[in-house]
Amino acid sequence: MNLVLPLMPYREPTLLDGFAGIPRCLKEHGKSNCILVTDKGIRGLGLTKGLEDLLSEKGISCTVFDDTVANPTIANVEAAREIYIAKGCDSIIAFGGGSSMDCAKALGARIACPDKSLKKMKGIMKVRKKIPLLIAVPTTAGTGSETTVSAVITDGETHYKYAINSFPLIPEYAALEPEVTVGLPKSLTATTGMDALTHSVEAYIGGATTKKTRKAAIESVRLIFANLEKAYECPEDRTARANMLKASYLAGVAFTRSYVGYVHAVAHSLGGQYGIPHGLANSVLLPVVLEMYGEKAHKKLAELARAVGFANDEVFDGMAAEVFIDKIRQMNADMNIPRTLKGIKEDDIPLMAANADKEGNPLYPVPVLWDRKELEKIYRAVME
Ligand SMILES: NC(=O)c1ccc[n+]([C@@H]2O[C@H](COP(=O)([O-])OP(=O)(O)OC[C@H]3O[C@@H](n4cnc5c(N)ncnc54)[C@H](O)[C@@H]3O)[C@@H](O)[C@H]2O)c1
Ligand SMILES: [Fe+2]
Repeated sequence: MNLVLPLMPYREPTLLDGFAGIPRCLKEHGKSNCILVTDKGIRGLGLTKGLEDLLSEKGISCTVFDDTVANPTIANVEAAREIYIAKGCDSIIAFGGGSSMDCAKALGARIACPDKSLKKMKGIMKVRKKIPLLIAVPTTAGTGSETTVSAVITDGETHYKYAINSFPLIPEYAALEPEVTVGLPKSLTATTGMDALTHSVEAYIGGATTKKTRKAAIESVRLIFANLEKAYECPEDRTARANMLKASYLAGVAFTRSYVGYVHAVAHSLGGQYGIPHGLANSVLLPVVLEMYGEKAHKKLAELARAVGFANDEVFDGMAAEVFIDKIRQMNADMNIPRTLKGIKEDDIPLMAANADKEGNPLYPVPVLWDRKELEKIYRAVME
């Protein structure tokens, strides 16, 4: 993987200068009729209004699709596709958290490949055609979806949640606008921030890093420990909000190239089965899974602990790794994130563990490879 990674056609979105850059960018590409994919909560808060007004002022027609649900489903994407076609749209604005951005990315994939179902796009590099012009505006910090190859979709009938990982899904443009994250409720600030931390930590401790992804992951971990609790305590701290958007973006840069690990595999199965929010599942699972990896993860976790200043070179790896995991637990506790998850049923565990196993093996370069029986222990460890 390490040999192949540098040869892969990764790219990063061009960053636009706030909302103002969006109509300019659409015009430069000759686009005049976009669809804005978001959810009702975001639109209801008026977050899209400034952009909708600006587009209208500049003579760009904008159809809003605000039916995205958390853990977006195949049905969601198909509904957006019908509207895109009916209105003759020519470009896509993804406006929201990971759910809206992923719905928009999957919509782009379906427009590019009308004869391929989303199920057939599951996995790596199944979408090979260029998707319509896509501009991402993240409102959580977050999933990093604005820079990743992934769109995570749930099959509403089977509750199976899976990722479509294809290079054309990397948005061409992104606008990191702290103002839209200022009203993010405290609990979502906390859990989406911990999702970003999970991305950088899982990418860093996995076996497929490069110099670039290690650097991005370390910078992201530093920014998160320095800013997440500030954004949580003081939601209007725009510097902390901007730093969290940067951290989430860098975590995206790291994990889209170096993958995630079992925290994500298990979180996806819980999201698919019970709709447990992705960030919440990751926050609770992260310290538990890191602890369960044991000695195999100590060296890398110790490196992170030292990079963030939690330990110095004289502290043994095992001790430094423990300090790092404790700091995560402490941050969770400070932000009122629970230690367990409600609603997990014993009878569902074997199927969820099988799905997590299917997702993780062989794709994720995890520090320790587990079988289904081992994975089942993780669900029991976080059951309320
Ligand atoms: N594509 C990727 O690379 C990637 C990476 C990680 C996670 N994901 C996926 O992203 C999804 C989770 O995304 P998320 O955690 O960003 O949450 P989300 O998009 O599901 O949003 C959660 C809630 O927060 C609200 N919200 C979002 N921004 C807000 C704001 N600024 N102010 C007020 N409310 C706001 C939304 O209305 C929604 O109710 C999951 O499906 C997960 O699997 C994708
Ligand atoms: Fe995630």
